[in-house]
Amino acid sequence: MALAVVTGASSGIGRAAAVELAGRGIHVVLAGRSEPRTSLVVDVIEAAGGSAEFLPLDLASLNSAREAGQQLATTGRTVDILVNNAGIGGTRGVTEDGFEIHFGVNHLGHFMFTHHLSPALRSGSRVVQLSSDMHRRATGIDFEAVRRKSRSFYGIGEYAVSKLANALFAAELARRRPDLHTYAVHPGLVNTNIIPKIIKPLVRSSLTTPEQGADTVVWCATSEDVAGESGSYYARRRQVEPSRPALDENLAATLWSESEQWCGINLGDGPH
Ligand SMILES: NC(=O)c1ccc[n+]([C@@H]2O[C@H](COP(=O)([O-])OP(=O)(O)OC[C@H]3O[C@@H](n4cnc5c(N)ncnc54)[C@H](OP(=O)(O)O)[C@@H]3O)[C@@H](O)[C@H]2O)c1
Repeated sequence: MALAVVTGASSGIGRAAAVELAGRGIHVVLAGRSEPRTSLVVDVIEAAGGSAEFLPLDLASLNSAREAGQQLATTGRTVDILVNNAGIGGTRGVTEDGFEIHFGVNHLGHFMFTHHLSPALRSGSRVVQLSSDMHRRATGIDFEAVRRKSRSFYGIGEYAVSKLANALFAAELARRRPDLHTYAVHPGLVNTNIIPKIIKPLVRSSLTTPEQGADTVVWCATSEDVAGESGSYYARRRQVEPSRPALDENLAATLWSESEQWCGINLGDGPH
């Protein structure tokens, strides 16, 4: 039985993707910070005849991300699909390790998690990274600013930087692990908990369902029709051009090496 890992599957797009993957006969590991919330989704999957399990993962803690990745890798199982989906937006704070909260959870926690589970990825495994068209609002990454709490109230700029980091991560992972298929996905504007309550009434008519939001994610994770190069950016099942900074290979390489240092990983330029 194929195995997929989905982070942040307690709600929204991650939940819809996990349910859809399980419905296709794939065993799904739902990695999240809340066992009660995530176990409800495991129950839904099992009630429909699918197979799933919970894995504790708090992306706001590099320790937790390391342990969760190692826990998966040491079981000796093969991960055929990894969906780095979990995310936060519109908040303020820092992670356990002092990183700006959007950058820390959306990018750095996933970087650590992916690194430690990567021995379980086989040649041909797919890694899907949830990015967002909001990445287009970021002109670059301030590598000092991501190491401290932001003064911004809504954190929109910080969210955009984290989503740029997600697109850069997918592209750099493709360069470092040519044996994998990695994609960054914009899921559309989706009616989930991440959309701030004050904004929802303004955009309600444009919002899609979590199932619609998960469509391109699941497609990139499973379809034989994904024709674009590994590392590319997708929306509505189509490869689209991301922003210019998202295509900047020097920025991607710098983000990678800084992330390695912050995570205490010393692999130099070798494979991930
Ligand atoms: N909705 C949109 O319009 C939209 C557009 C573009 C991109 N995206 C991206 O899609 C992804 C999924 O978001 P969503 O819209 O489905 O929002 P959501 O319903 O709020 O789901 C977010 C998921 O992330 C989990 N999460 C948050 N912090 C975490 C942490 N520290 N450790 C582990 N898991 C954590 C949440 O778990 P809890 O239950 O514990 O909170 C939840 O399962 C995000 O990466 C987001 O940036 C969404």
